[in-house]
Amino acid sequence: MKLGLIGNPIKHSLSPWIHTRLLNQANIAGSYELYEMEPGSFKEQVSFLRKEALDGFNVTVPFKQKIMTELDDIDEQAKLLGAVNTVKNLDGKWIGYNTDGKGFLHSLRAKYPELFDKNIKALIIGAGGAAKGIYHTLKNETTSHIDIANRTSERAREMMEAGAESGNGDILTLQEAESRIASYDLIIQTTTVGMKPNLEQQIISLKNLSEDTIVSDIVYQPLMTSFLKEAQAKGARIHQGHEMLLYQAVYAFEIWTGISVEESRLLGELEEQLKGA
Ligand code: ATR
Repeated sequence: MKLGLIGNPIKHSLSPWIHTRLLNQANIAGSYELYEMEPGSFKEQVSFLRKEALDGFNVTVPFKQKIMTELDDIDEQAKLLGAVNTVKNLDGKWIGYNTDGKGFLHSLRAKYPELFDKNIKALIIGAGGAAKGIYHTLKNETTSHIDIANRTSERAREMMEAGAESGNGDILTLQEAESRIASYDLIIQTTTVGMKPNLEQQIISLKNLSEDTIVSDIVYQPLMTSFLKEAQAKGARIHQGHEMLLYQAVYAFEIWTGISVEESRLLGELEEQLKGA
């Protein structure tokens, strides 16, 4: 099986590491190659990629939108999000999917199944590409009240209004979110704030956090962001970024192979890999 990743820069991507393990675990002989492409000659490089006849590939920054005009069909969720991170070659036709939101939700459900037994109140911080996938999947798969807080409120509004049903929640400033922090069952941090090398940065304070809240951060470098450290210090339970990273890959692998791999052992190995990075 021939798999790969397109994007730029991708030299330090963990996807080859993850997919090589998934191939091994599924007992499939195969490869996962990096195709670092220049945005200026994207079309030409896509023609080259067609000739490579990959069975499937992942798409990352800055091509998640650009790839869409090159595809033969696009799954509804990816259309709604306006971004594709996984492409399957189905008898020569390229079909686009987006596994980010689904990967996030599955990883959260695997760790905290009780969160899905009831109506919950959630806060999503951020309104970028990653937030969109998480927001729409959470909205479709749970009966939650979901507030969105973003530095630029217009982007939060666009995110809430996209899709068939409009959202059930409020648009907040970061300060408002901070002052309401004790009222949430679930808080999901989706911005790049706190990512290596800006380890001290934190999007909002969790000073008033309740210990009953589950706090998630999609940043995985570092594994323990300043945001998660504060949440833990408050006695809250946490969900780390590498959990989403692994599950979005597991879903992509499932789309390509039809095989659902048992991922709990891989999660620990990925953690070790990231600690050494
Ligand atoms: P991605 O696709 O990785 O989610 P993105 O689309 O650039 O990336 O979105 C980044 C998110 O981080 C946005 O919500 C952005 O807020 P704006 O919409 O106001 O730009 C947020 N973000 C990035 N840097 C930030 C900062 N220093 N303070 C507050 N929010 C920040």
